[in-house]
Amino acid sequence: MTHYQAPKGVFDILPSYCFDQPDLSIASFWQHLEANCRQIADLYAFEEIRTPIFEHTEVFTRSSGEASDIVSKEMYTFQDKGMRLVSLRPEGTAGVARAVNEHHLLRKQGSPKLFYIGPFFRYDRPQAGRYRQFHQFGAEWIGTKDPLADVQMITMLLHLYKNLGLKNLNLMINSVGDLPSRERYKKALIEFLIPFKTALSEESQARLDKNPLRILDSKDPKDQKIVASAPALTSFLSSEAADHFHQVCEGLKTLHIPFTISDRLVRGLDYYTHTVFEITIQDNLQAQNAIGAGGRYDHLLKDLGGVETPAFGFATGMERILLAMIAQQQLPLEKKGPKFFFIPLDASSQLTSLALSDQLRKTGFSAELYMKNFKIQKGLQQAYFSQAEYAVIIGESERNEQKVQIKNLLTKKECALSFETLIESAGDLTAHFA
Ligand code: HAM
Repeated sequence: MTHYQAPKGVFDILPSYCFDQPDLSIASFWQHLEANCRQIADLYAFEEIRTPIFEHTEVFTRSSGEASDIVSKEMYTFQDKGMRLVSLRPEGTAGVARAVNEHHLLRKQGSPKLFYIGPFFRYDRPQAGRYRQFHQFGAEWIGTKDPLADVQMITMLLHLYKNLGLKNLNLMINSVGDLPSRERYKKALIEFLIPFKTALSEESQARLDKNPLRILDSKDPKDQKIVASAPALTSFLSSEAADHFHQVCEGLKTLHIPFTISDRLVRGLDYYTHTVFEITIQDNLQAQNAIGAGGRYDHLLKDLGGVETPAFGFATGMERILLAMIAQQQLPLEKKGPKFFFIPLDASSQLTSLALSDQLRKTGFSAELYMKNFKIQKGLQQAYFSQAEYAVIIGESERNEQKVQIKNLLTKKECALSFETLIESAGDLTAHFA
C-alpha cells in the first residue's frame, strides 16, 4: 500500500496533541495569530475581502510583470477544462485590485480599506521560511495618495508585530519614484551597468534588459560589489516624488518609528511606485528574514482595466511570523481542553451523561463524553490527556441519587453535586470544592 505524503514545500496544520515541541503546524498558534491580525485590522478600520485562490493568469502577469521572479519562475499555472489559462494566486494585491475594479468598490466607498488572510502559492525551492503554499495577512488601502496613508499602514504592520511580542525588527524604506523618475533612473542604471555586464551574475545579465532595477537587490556578492557604486535611485526622483517620500519619513519620525532608508530596496514586483518598504527580523530565518513588505501602487488598478487610482498595501508572511515567535519564545503554549469530561460507568449512566453534556454545551460550556468503555481509570487517563478541567463521573449510585461525582483535574479535589447544581453553577464551581 502506498503511504501518501503531502507534496514538497507544503504542510498540514494539526491539532496541538501531535507535538511536544513548538512547531508552526500547530492549529492553536495559527488561531492566536489570526485573531491578532483581525484585531489589528479592526483597530485601523479595515474590512475583510476574500478573493478566489485562482485567477486568470493575466491578472498576475499584468500586475507583477512578466519579468518578475514570481511570474517568470514561480507561478502554478494550468489550463482548465475550458482551455482557460489560470494561476494559483502567488500574492494578494492583484486579486484585490481586480475585485475592486470588477465590483466598483470605489463608487460605493471612496477609499476602501481591505484586509485578507489566506493561502498563497509560489513554486520555489522550499527551505525554512519559504514554502510552496504559505499564508499571508495583507491589507490594501485603495484610493488615497496621501503619504500619511503610507505611514499609517507601515505603523499598522509594526503594531501587529509588537502585539505579538516580536523584537529585533528593522524597517527599511525607499522610494522607487513615479513613472518618469523611474524611467530616467532605469536609463542611468543601464548605462552604468553596461561596462560591467560580463562581470555580473548570469541572472543579473539577463535582467539588464528586462528588469534592471532588480539587479540592485541581487543577493550575489559579485553583483552587490558592482551595484554598491551605482547611482542612487533617490537622486533621480522628481520633485513631487521626493516630496512624497520626505512626508513619509517625517510621518514616521513623528510617530518615533525607527527606519533606515535603503536606496537599493526595489522589491520584486513591477507595480510599485513611490514608497516601498520591507521589515526584516534578526533571528534564525537566515536568508528568508523578510517578514513583511509592501508599498504604493498608483497605477495597478488602471493597468488592470480600471481608472487611475492611487493605493498602498502590505503583506506579511504568517509562517515567518510564527518562526520568529518560536525563536523569540512568544507563543502561548498552554492548550485548553474541554471544561467537562464525562466518564459513565454503565450503559444507563452513559445516556444520563449524554443528556447532561448536551445541556451543558447548550448553555455554552464545552463537554466531552468518554465512550470507549466503562472503566474509571481509563476514563480519567483520557480526561487528563485531553486537558479537561473537570472529570464528571456517573455510576449507578450517583444516577439513583441524581448526582455526579466531580473531580477538579488540576487540584485533584472531589465533591458530589446534584445534576441541577452542576448545570446551574457550571460557570464557577469553586465554592463547591471548599
Ligand atoms: P512579497 O514581498 O512578495 O509581497 O510577500 C510578502 C511576504 O510574504 C514576505 O515578506 C514573506 O514574509 C512572505 N512570503 C513570500 N513568499 C513566501 C514563501 N514562499 N514562503 C513563505 N512566506 C513567503 C507581496 O506579496 C505583496 N503583495 C505585498 C503588498 C501588498 N504590496 C502591496 N500590497
